[in-house]
Amino acid sequence: MSARELFTFRNIYFSAGIGIAAGLFLLTAIGGFIVLPYAQPELKLAGLWDAICSAAGLPRRTALVTAGKVGPRLSEAVLTPTTLAKPSQESIGRGATLAQRCAICHGPTGISRADSPNLAGQYAAVIYKELLDFRSGARTNAVMSPFAVNLADQEIADLAAYYAYLPRLPAYHPTPQLPRPRIVISGAPLRGIAPCGACHGSLDNKAGSPWLEGQSEVYLKAQLQALASGQRTNDISQQMRNIARAMTPQEIDEAAAYYASQPPEIVKATD
Ligand code: HEC
Ligand code: HEC
Repeated sequence: MSARELFTFRNIYFSAGIGIAAGLFLLTAIGGFIVLPYAQPELKLAGLWDAICSAAGLPRRTALVTAGKVGPRLSEAVLTPTTLAKPSQESIGRGATLAQRCAICHGPTGISRADSPNLAGQYAAVIYKELLDFRSGARTNAVMSPFAVNLADQEIADLAAYYAYLPRLPAYHPTPQLPRPRIVISGAPLRGIAPCGACHGSLDNKAGSPWLEGQSEVYLKAQLQALASGQRTNDISQQMRNIARAMTPQEIDEAAAYYASQPPEIVKATD
């Protein structure tokens, strides 16, 4: 049989080969672009084209429109490294007055004696974003949410300016020095976890990542667990949920204990 005869549709093996290849292509395309997207209940699809776009990783209009309306509310805050970078003295002053109503839980100097988070020295962008999220319902907490719902935009900016202006916790930690857990220092590259400090400070700060040092262990652990379980969903693009989900319970414990109790030389180096 010459090569010309091999590659003609008269050759039954050739046509069968082409037929099977085309059939397989069609099946996998239907499977990947249509069946799989529909099999994910959290994807709210507007139709066939929407399913195909979602599988191809293209931005979908419906995803933008329905974000915040169906399923968990997502954060609508927009952050850049210069968000609230240079507040005025007036703004800080107004923030101080407003903060009186927060003192009962967050402490008169922004350092909480209970397990509410410390706010003193927290990045302004974080205070601002978390308050926006508590106000919109993207982040909820039975104790905290009622204090955010009635805040005006300017009040939120003033509170952020004030708390960011207060000094961070001094280098005092009652518990003995802890070894630095591997998950905090090196992350876990195989699981896609960057070192915590790459976003949270001490190595670098990525806009919107809270300062963690000196927060209460109970609070840190509760937040990591809430992010891992999907109970807290206000982190933009799931950047923290993806990490918390990939952490083992032991790593969560170690990271919380470590950030709650800093060896003095680290606090000095990063303050
Ligand atoms: C009755 C106690 C209470 C009062 C009053 C209160 N908060 Fe809170 N706040 C909390 C608790 C508890 C949390 C942690 C919520 C959680 O676990 O998600 C919190 C969380 C926060 C956070 C998020 C911090 C972070 O690191 O993510 C900010 C910002 C905040 N509060 C600001 C304020 C401001 C500003 C006021 C006053 C207008 C205020 N809070 C009043 C209890 C309170
Ligand atoms: C890619 C950047 C990034 C890395 C790496 C990262 N985080 Fe986060 N983390 C964030 C962001 C952003 C938030 C704020 C989410 C939001 O918008 O409310 C956050 C929030 C948190 C919170 C909640 C704090 C609060 O006060 O609300 C904890 C606790 C936390 N991260 C712990 C960790 C630990 C522990 C690690 C290392 C294992 C880590 N993070 C690594 C970006 C990161």
